Amino acid sequence: MPVIVKLTPNISNILGPARAAKAGGADAVSLINTINSIMSVNLDKMAPEPVVDGKGTHGGYCGPAVKPIALNMVAEIARTMDTRGMPISGIGGITTWRDAAEFMALGSGSVQVCTAAMVYGFKIVEDMIDGLSNWMDSQGYATLDDFVGKAVPNVTDWQYLNINHDLKARINQDLCISCGRCHIACEDTSHQAITKEKDGKRYFEVVDSECVGCNLCMIACPVPECITMEAVDTDRPYANWTTHPNNPMAKAAAE
Ligand SMILES: Cc1cc2nc3c(=O)[nH]c(=O)nc-3n(C[C@H](O)[C@H](O)[C@H](O)COP(=O)(O)O)c2cc1C
Ligand code: SF4
Ligand code: SF4
Repeated sequence: MPVIVKLTPNISNILGPARAAKAGGADAVSLINTINSIMSVNLDKMAPEPVVDGKGTHGGYCGPAVKPIALNMVAEIARTMDTRGMPISGIGGITTWRDAAEFMALGSGSVQVCTAAMVYGFKIVEDMIDGLSNWMDSQGYATLDDFVGKAVPNVTDWQYLNINHDLKARINQDLCISCGRCHIACEDTSHQAITKEKDGKRYFEVVDSECVGCNLCMIACPVPECITMEAVDTDRPYANWTTHPNNPMAKAAAE
């Protein structure tokens, strides 16, 4: 009887229970279960919702909101030396074929669906199979093994990202409705890189020398595709934070 150990995300490091499952002889791990959460507080009764005879307790967060957390935990297990290679069944917010494909690309050999099936019924699984199958055909993947885990080698720690890979925001003036949200976002909480007027009129333009490519403006813009991020050539070779002159740890290592 194969044993698949289901892992809770209510833990600071998912590798601990994954290692324990492996050491205990598990055939596979599945993750994630639900995330402990209080969704709201009833301010009249001064207790968490749903209020049960004056008291409340936490529930389990699930569905699309937990997908990013689940993907990260799956990736951690798939890429870490001593847990790598353990069969993984990915769970958490899977609603479309694309969600399933993303879990698989990060190393899940199978996936599970709970919330989406509860909301839309089992038919949603057939839709996902259709979509996944069409996408696999379009990519030339004949079997799931052709792409399961394919994104794992491209998951790294932030300090190894290329510090010389530079992006600049680009505003499509034909699509811009001059709402100003990008300006406010960049002005108040990023790098003051978007102007708000030109010749006395509202006009939103990126100042390349100030833009750090954080993409906040793109998220704030209500018009799809109006702001895009463009990679610009810096003529600088790959370098990362581990050797950067501003990194005190790098300095200490060099001394
Ligand atoms: C109403 C409900 C009941 C659940 N009961 C269980 C359970 O008994 N055992 C378990 O391992 N997971 C249980 N789960 C967690 C799901 O199996 C799944 O791990 C989690 O909801 C994340 O997937 P999802 O976003 O597709 O729902 C339950 C989830 C929901 C929403
Ligand atoms: S990418 Fe960031 S820094 Fe650049 S313009 Fe947008 S919000 Fe400002
Ligand atoms: S948020 Fe988008 S639509 Fe609004 S001013 Fe900026 S670029 Fe134009």
